[in-house]
Amino acid sequence: MQNFVYKNPTEILFGRGMIAKIATRVPSSAPVLFLYGGGSIKRNGVYDQVKSALKKHRVVEFAGIEANPLYETCLRAVDVVKREHINFILAVGGGSVLDAGKFIAAATCFTGADPWDILRSGGDGVKAALPVGTVLTLPATGSEANGNSVISRRTTQEKLPFTSNHSFPVFSVLDPETTFTLPQKQVRNGVVDAFAHVMEQYMTYPADAPLQDRLAESVLQTLVEVGPMTLAEPRNYEARASFMWSATLALNTLISCGVPQDWATHMIGHEMTAFYGLDHAETLAIVMLGVWQHKLAQKNAKLEQYGRRVWNVTSAEAAIAKTEAFFNSIGMLTCLGAYKISAEDAAAKVSARFAERKVVFGEHGDIGPDAAAAILRLRA
Ligand code: NZQ
Ligand code: ZN
Repeated sequence: MQNFVYKNPTEILFGRGMIAKIATRVPSSAPVLFLYGGGSIKRNGVYDQVKSALKKHRVVEFAGIEANPLYETCLRAVDVVKREHINFILAVGGGSVLDAGKFIAAATCFTGADPWDILRSGGDGVKAALPVGTVLTLPATGSEANGNSVISRRTTQEKLPFTSNHSFPVFSVLDPETTFTLPQKQVRNGVVDAFAHVMEQYMTYPADAPLQDRLAESVLQTLVEVGPMTLAEPRNYEARASFMWSATLALNTLISCGVPQDWATHMIGHEMTAFYGLDHAETLAIVMLGVWQHKLAQKNAKLEQYGRRVWNVTSAEAAIAKTEAFFNSIGMLTCLGAYKISAEDAAAKVSARFAERKVVFGEHGDIGPDAAAAILRLRA
């Protein structure tokens, strides 16, 4: 196992009725920014629960955070935060709203000339941020318990992540009942995103970290069990609860302790969303299988272990086939052609982006422009 520092400062408030608890955790000394998306929280009662919990607080609302949150919208929210002297952000919704909250919190305190530098620097530019609390309504990203945020810029078709220790939420409410209203497509997306998060931290090479491996495999097995159950029985509280907790543990920094990480799938996937507008998880299902095919030799030992322990098969190829079949079984497509996207076009665009930014990814740092192109061609 490699050396590591582990610190997760986010308090999790898990279960039915827990939104009421935020009253004691949100400071009342200044107005609170209540941030949300396109209105799903107004239709499922979450908005009313938050308003009721904060009835003694001064609340300023900011609605309209998009899926794949836009930089331009976040900057409008920063203006509101400054104008209203807000000192706490409550982000209520899916990963997009949470990510927007984190960016707004960091951009408000940013002293440089251009807040886009927060993203250009991957978060190194973040020296302080307003505190953010969250109420999560979509299990998928893990944003509720990590310091990551991903922001898109419409004008330049860019989508960039940043990470900062200042950006962990101070608390997150996870009430599985808030997820009952999710469209099937978002549940499917959430299962695949959480699955891919585990894989970015697991599907590398053996690193003498048997506990990390077993933790990762447990999350995968739970997703395989409760994902389809959630889709079949949308009001099954227990299935929703296990799914929600699995998605949090998939990316709350615990399973990455002391092990190598990949993240090539995500970084290629972000470009695919920026260029073609696919949902985040839709890109991952396609690209991850391509990364494994491209890296079959280097990832063989872990692919075999995963196949044996999670699917009861004996070869790396069979493990890949089982994964694709699982994704397809929950309604997730796994090749570019299914979205009428040309693999050649995608390969050209993504490799040019990686070349221009001079970036490489993967546990061996060898997924650069050419490898990204090869991976996308494998998924035509
Ligand atoms: O906007 P509203 O009306 O709220 O509707 C949302 C949105 O249309 C809807 N929704 C959310 N909760 C609902 C609901 N509809 C009914 N009932 C509910 N309970 O779902 C739609 C999608 O929401 P979004 O927040 O965009 O989805 P998700 O949570 O999958 O977040 C995706 C974003 O997170 C980033 C992605 O790149 C993408 O931008 N990621 C963030 C990460 C992180 N912070 O650690 C890691 C991930 O790898 C990912 O990159
Ligand atoms: Zn993801």
